[in-house]
Amino acid sequence: MLKIDLKTLKVEAEKEAEKAKNSKDLNDVFKKYLGKKGEITQILRSLKNLPEKERKKTGKSANQLKQEIEKSIEEKRKKFQVPSYESQDSIDITLPGKKPAIGHLHPLTLVKRQIEEIFQAMGFSVIEGPEIENEWYNFDALNIPKDHPARDLWDTFYLKDGLLLRTHTSPVQIRFMEKNNPPFRIIVPGRCFRHEATDASHEINFYQVEGLMVGKDISVANFKAVVEEFLSRFFGKPAKVRLRPSFFPFVEPGFEVDVTCLICKGKGCKVCSRTGWLELMGAGMVHPNVLKAGGINPKNWQGFAFGVGYDRLAMMKYKINDIRLFFTGDLRFLKQF
Ligand code: FA5
Repeated sequence: MLKIDLKTLKVEAEKEAEKAKNSKDLNDVFKKYLGKKGEITQILRSLKNLPEKERKKTGKSANQLKQEIEKSIEEKRKKFQVPSYESQDSIDITLPGKKPAIGHLHPLTLVKRQIEEIFQAMGFSVIEGPEIENEWYNFDALNIPKDHPARDLWDTFYLKDGLLLRTHTSPVQIRFMEKNNPPFRIIVPGRCFRHEATDASHEINFYQVEGLMVGKDISVANFKAVVEEFLSRFFGKPAKVRLRPSFFPFVEPGFEVDVTCLICKGKGCKVCSRTGWLELMGAGMVHPNVLKAGGINPKNWQGFAFGVGYDRLAMMKYKINDIRLFFTGDLRFLKQF
């Protein structure tokens, strides 16, 4: 009688386990048959009332059945488990992949490349020079003799053995003229250093683009045309510039080129020191002494030169109100470009 009960229970238990739709159903089946008060557990407990011989025999087959039911329930349970990547033999190629985080160019690099493209389209070559210079190229050859007060215009980081961190890109004018014959037109983008207090528009480490065009009859009119064309292409609209007479020992005449502050549209803000104009570049006609220092005869050749801070161009283009943001490495800032 007990034998029949056990077998019937096993069949029923296995049927119910098979029907289970989820882990909860399966737990209920387990509880019903194998839990503390489960039907099979009860039967196993009642074995103690049987005579010893029968108890041993029935006990053995009852335990066996119990194990078989447990096994069926466990088998079924495996089907409900979500497979982990580790336990899978093969890769599911239909799963969406992980997107790699792609970096992008720094805004100053973007601006540098755009400047190069515009000038190259106007026939200028892109030249580079060293960031560590000596006093000859940074000052003397540019008509700034030792002990001349004009040297104070550039707060310089001096290194050992007469070397220094270049304060502007102008030394590359001399380096280029030494090796090349006119006519030529070049730009020199590069990093410059000045030992000065920082503020919204001044950094100790900033970037300039030098321009140099030398030919038989290059004039200020050529300079104005080139710079206006460049600024208009760079900003995508006609840029308003003004030329103010200024002094740089390496040009004669010299001037400062200002552009209307695109951040405040000329109204006055902290970037333009409330003037509505932003000083953009120094420029002028190359001084005869500079041509001579570069090995070029000033009686036969003349030209213009300019030096523009391209951090400031980037600030105007992207409406950035503090130059120091370029060098903070703050991702919230950099991710916007
Ligand atoms: C010069 O450095 C000259 N070499 C430019 C020049 C070249 C004049 C050729 C004539 C002929 P200046 O010190 O004014 O000039 O600097 C030129 C530009 O560099 C400035 O107008 C400004 O845009 C930028 N600049 C200068 N100092 C800083 C600074 N600390 N931080 C950011 N930009 C600066």
